Amino acid sequence: MSTAAAGPSAPPAAVLCGLAGWVPSRMVTNEHLARRLDTDDAWIRTRTGIRRRYVVDPGQATSDLAVEAGRRALASAGTHAVDAVIVATTTPDHTCPATAPAVAARLGLTGAAAFDISAVCTGFVYGLASAAGLIAAGVAERVLLIGADAYSTIVDPLDRANAIIFGDGAGAVVLRAGCPDEPGAVGHFDLGSDGAHEDLITVAAGGSRQRSRPGEPNHEDRHFAMRGKEVYRHAVTRMAESARATLTRAGRKTADVDHFVPHQANLRILYSVADDLGLPRERCVTHVESVGNTGAASIPLALADAAARQTLRPGDRLLLTAFGGGLTWGSCLLTWPALRAPAPPDREERMTS
Ligand code: UT7
Repeated sequence: MSTAAAGPSAPPAAVLCGLAGWVPSRMVTNEHLARRLDTDDAWIRTRTGIRRRYVVDPGQATSDLAVEAGRRALASAGTHAVDAVIVATTTPDHTCPATAPAVAARLGLTGAAAFDISAVCTGFVYGLASAAGLIAAGVAERVLLIGADAYSTIVDPLDRANAIIFGDGAGAVVLRAGCPDEPGAVGHFDLGSDGAHEDLITVAAGGSRQRSRPGEPNHEDRHFAMRGKEVYRHAVTRMAESARATLTRAGRKTADVDHFVPHQANLRILYSVADDLGLPRERCVTHVESVGNTGAASIPLALADAAARQTLRPGDRLLLTAFGGGLTWGSCLLTWPALRAPAPPDREERMTS
């Protein structure tokens, strides 16, 4: 799927005007994991680049993270009113109903349209495209989009392959109606999927295919499962293809990209994509070292971290690219706006800054 370039008489574009990130307070370092799993800091850092991640406390849920990020994004945008709230997540509070209406209510936004997007780690980019569509159609003037995931609630803590990768967190943006050529404007897009590989990233039980049966917990099937090596290969190929397709649609070249903001799955994956695109690694925005793979939250968390460090300048051209279960993938371009710099989402940095 693609969106065309906006001309002079085009519908309004979605313009980024607020941004924030949030991670829970419980930090889990590689050393913590090595105490309970057959792994070590050197393996984790070499294979993934991750040094630590943050996880929710018992009783904390995805909506709790989403509300914290959402509240800060609204403050960053200087507004308390939006027409729609979108939550991109793979770990909704409940199978039914969606998490977004509860998040909207807790933010004092009862009455706004509210729905979830389920596109796994691509959810935030799908969410940007959906928000842009609502704005272009005149359905919404302002949209709050939150990517929030608490993977620690679905990953088996004894599964060393996945427990080391994922962290919990939320990142949020506010988008308003504006012009396609002003800083903050989002677009062009490239979105895609390949359901033939749905089995590479799954939670097998709990849906309509493999229903919950009281008294038969079948714990294994309720946990997140990923065929890491195959996912790795698809991730590199699909992200590079999607990034290229987006640049081509926009009539841009790799050299026009000031900052590449890939889904923060694994440092090796994102550098491989950058290498494939011919982008110098210094242009990659990376945050995975500090928070792990936070699913749908990873791109907005990386943006909030880079904005807090003031590495993004107004007018800089950003290329966002994501990949996740489904399989799904997506990319979009974004011109960086002048924003109030948010506090870094990384707790340790926040405490020391
Ligand atoms: O966000 C959605 C998209 N997700 C991704 O993009 C993740 C994609 N995949 C990856 O990032 C990588 O595949 C992993 C980080 C998950 C794994 O790295 P890998 O280099 O593909 O390792 P592997 O799965 O091939 O495992 C290599 C070895 C195996 O041992 P043997 O069979 O060679 O003896 C594993 O059992 O490493 C072993 N291993 C570990 N060793 C120490 C697996 N996990 C660990 C661990 N610590 N935590």
